[in-house]
Amino acid sequence: MKPAAGRRPQPGRGGGAGLPAGPALPAVVQTALWAAAPVWFGRTCLRRYGPLFTARILGFGPVVYACSPETIRRILLDDAAAFDAASANESIRFVVGEHSLLMSGGAEHTRRRKLLMRPLHGRNVADYVDVMVSIVEREMRSWRPGSTVRLLDCFQRVTLEVMIRAVFGITDSARLDRLRVLVPKLLALNPLIILLPALRKPFGGIGPWARFQRLLREVDDIIHAEIRQRRQRLAAEPDLRGSDVLTLLLTTSSSGTPLSDTELRDHMVTLLAVGQETTATQLAWFFERVLRSGSALRRVQAAVDEGDTRVLDAAIHEAIRARPTTLDVGRITVGRWEAEGHSFPAGTLFAVSLGLLHLSPDLHPVPESYSIDRFHPVEPPSTHFLPFGGGNHRCLGASLAMVEMRTVITTILRNARLRPRRAAPERVKPKGPMLVPGHGAEVVVDANHLPAYAASATVSEETT
Ligand code: HEM
Repeated sequence: MKPAAGRRPQPGRGGGAGLPAGPALPAVVQTALWAAAPVWFGRTCLRRYGPLFTARILGFGPVVYACSPETIRRILLDDAAAFDAASANESIRFVVGEHSLLMSGGAEHTRRRKLLMRPLHGRNVADYVDVMVSIVEREMRSWRPGSTVRLLDCFQRVTLEVMIRAVFGITDSARLDRLRVLVPKLLALNPLIILLPALRKPFGGIGPWARFQRLLREVDDIIHAEIRQRRQRLAAEPDLRGSDVLTLLLTTSSSGTPLSDTELRDHMVTLLAVGQETTATQLAWFFERVLRSGSALRRVQAAVDEGDTRVLDAAIHEAIRARPTTLDVGRITVGRWEAEGHSFPAGTLFAVSLGLLHLSPDLHPVPESYSIDRFHPVEPPSTHFLPFGGGNHRCLGASLAMVEMRTVITTILRNARLRPRRAAPERVKPKGPMLVPGHGAEVVVDANHLPAYAASATVSEETT
């Protein structure tokens, strides 16, 4: 959930005038609990106040949490026109830019979605598999039997590499090297500059905002240089074909008008901002869960050996359900809206809590336990499980994310034997907007069938 701009209802005791009940604790205490232990805070409020409750979070104001399948369905699908998603994303405009999909609504949003849809679906995404395999294998070649690996760090590198090489189609080694250093620093953005616009000041070139601006400028310069070069190449070789998103965006347009460099930059940065860390973190949670359940691991291993994607997908879905990387998505009412006996004025901020929906004991019995059987052979109703959201803002990268997760998991389980470094489950730790495994999904490598590369081998020799 992200902070919002615009008109909002005023906070009052509990939720606020006319809003559903919620904790009466001072906003500063609620904010501290929400920031330190969001899953515990959300589930405690859900138990105490029911599936529609109001929390008061500094920087957000009153936030109405929607956790029931019926209300979530109304907000995302049936009554979607009564809500604005772009205003709920307002606080990240300075990162993703004004042409971003996340910053648009109505017809403009539909047009941008259509444009990005093609490169992120079907055969295009399947084209990325070979590159993905080579990227994972390259990571794995440094895994010595007996060594400890932090899978979250490893998957951050893998998903970044997939993004900049397969999705952006960058091959220039100097640009790749620079992005490998800059992007992780950029995405480690101090969450306070999102929450507190007052911090977005240069302060004489020191502090988080100035640092962030320098990083963003350098990343933008690299992306702009890549766009210019790609335009020149396409002009020189009009028959050039590529399956990366950037080339496809340069060669298609929904309205006949070519996209400007700024539009292309905003689309690239948006994909990076929403697609990389989510996939890396979800992969880390997958291994954190599956390696702690002998029977689940045996089933996944057999599925990988037999190429049974139904069981593998069930195991991935169950990991997303049990350990969501983010709890909710934001929406703001554009006019008066009524639900569950409440009348909400325009400007009410909603946190549509897909995470709490997935952890509801009424919908998913014993939600703490990891069980592939929840999704195989019969899947839960689509209203009870929305891993990629729903409606007109449903995740555009869902196909890519599933292909990437299947490919990474299959490559690892075919070539290595891993076990968790600690028997105890890793705690859920908030890190920026993500909920990550507390120890970064640490594993011990028991066996690795991939030989190590000779020390002199380079990335481009190995993988291009
Ligand atoms: C496991 C990984 C992922 C998860 C769990 C996930 C989840 C989500 C969810 C729940 C939304 C809905 C947000 C809303 O309703 O406001 C969303 C939106 C989006 N996701 Fe993902 N995502 C993942 C990976 C990716 C990847 C790999 C990409 C692209 C490279 C991507 C691109 C997007 C975009 C562009 C949107 C905005 C769609 C719109 O507003 O129309 N996601 N994602």
